[in-house]
Amino acid sequence: MIIVTGGAGFIGSNFIHEWLEHQDEPVINLDKLTYAGNPENLSVFQGDSRYKLVHGDIADTALVSGLLNEYRPRALINFAAESHVDRSIHGPGDFITTNIVGTFHLLESVRGFWDTLSSDNQAAFRFLHVSTDEVYGTLAPNDPAFSETNPYLPNSPYAASKAASDHLVRAWHHTYGLPVLTTNCSNNYGPLHFPEKLIPLVILNALAGKPLPIYGDGQQVRDWLFVRDHARAIMRVLQDGQLGETYNIGGNQEKTNLSVVQTICDHLDRLRPKPNGESYRTQITFVKDRPGHDRRYAIDASKIKQALGWEPQETFESGLAQTVQWYLDNPQWVEHVASGDYRRWVEEHYGQ
Ligand code: NAD
Ligand code: DAU
Repeated sequence: MIIVTGGAGFIGSNFIHEWLEHQDEPVINLDKLTYAGNPENLSVFQGDSRYKLVHGDIADTALVSGLLNEYRPRALINFAAESHVDRSIHGPGDFITTNIVGTFHLLESVRGFWDTLSSDNQAAFRFLHVSTDEVYGTLAPNDPAFSETNPYLPNSPYAASKAASDHLVRAWHHTYGLPVLTTNCSNNYGPLHFPEKLIPLVILNALAGKPLPIYGDGQQVRDWLFVRDHARAIMRVLQDGQLGETYNIGGNQEKTNLSVVQTICDHLDRLRPKPNGESYRTQITFVKDRPGHDRRYAIDASKIKQALGWEPQETFESGLAQTVQWYLDNPQWVEHVASGDYRRWVEEHYGQ
């Protein structure tokens, strides 16, 4: 079996769906259930003997060591993090606590467990750390895309905390021999995305008749990847990745923020036309820029393609169409997230 941390969040929950839809190997999901952790993302697996949610913090070494010793997983995949750049600007403390200190404690718990394994089991074990392209900083319009050899030049508190966690993971391999793998992925989008991030925020604001806020001039570029393609890439790296290596994962789908928002409006104009016949584009509003806003991210994913044969299955067009449709088809999920109902559920089930 495997342990996934942060599996109640956006990417982790999509990963668990992808995993359990294709195999029977059980998953323990260790999640602190912060504002971003929503157990409802995995409600379809309630009562399924292959899935178990454990409420807890990656920094809780007694809990994590206990889980490792009890379940004896063959791998741990670390998705747990504070993930939103804007929140890291307003309050970086949680990012240092979870992304840096939490990763340190997690590495130590895993190292303690791994040290007790037989040499065969040590060789088979994997610690896969899920990271971001933001560690590489920002690109000028004509710069080549980020490759695995780019220097780390993080610009936001979020990016700096993820960069620090990547360095810890690297050092635990180099110094202690822990069998680690690291992935650095571009912007994900898809179902179950918490509506503080650009794409779900714009879909839901559009439907609610609210402004669609575009930071600065809207010409910042992101390289968008459908979340299930990210999940499939992580599975390939887990299966056949070279120990100690890092793998960049990206969709090769560079878009400006303005064009992303306009495309969402076009989908909604077709699928849910406004009664007054106006386009949703009329709700686009330019607002103050994000401080230190990175101008462009782009991933060179040739290494994972050549070494592991991974390529995205979705284009931005096909993935975005599915995503918009998913939000239209799941008003209950949206309502629970918007009303805070899932937070109440968490408090009832797990206390504060
Ligand atoms: P998310 O914010 O949606 O989910 C994070 C999850 O981690 C939540 O379920 C939360 O409850 C949990 N968590 C937070 N602190 C924890 C702790 N101390 N202990 C245990 N669980 C904790 O994030 P996401 O978008 O799903 O991102 C997952 C990972 O992928 C993160 O490491 C992020 O840096 C990385 N990443 C994200 C993207 C993206 O576009 N969203 C792209 C590349 C990499
Ligand atoms: O590149 C990978 C990263 O992508 C991940 O590591 C992060 O966890 C993830 O949150 C994401 O970071 P971004 O800052 O790129 O994503 P976000 O959705 O917050 O913003 C995407 C772009 O849209 C960015 O240039 C800021 C802009 N934006 C965002 C919001 C929320 C707006 O213009 N308006 C908005 O309201």
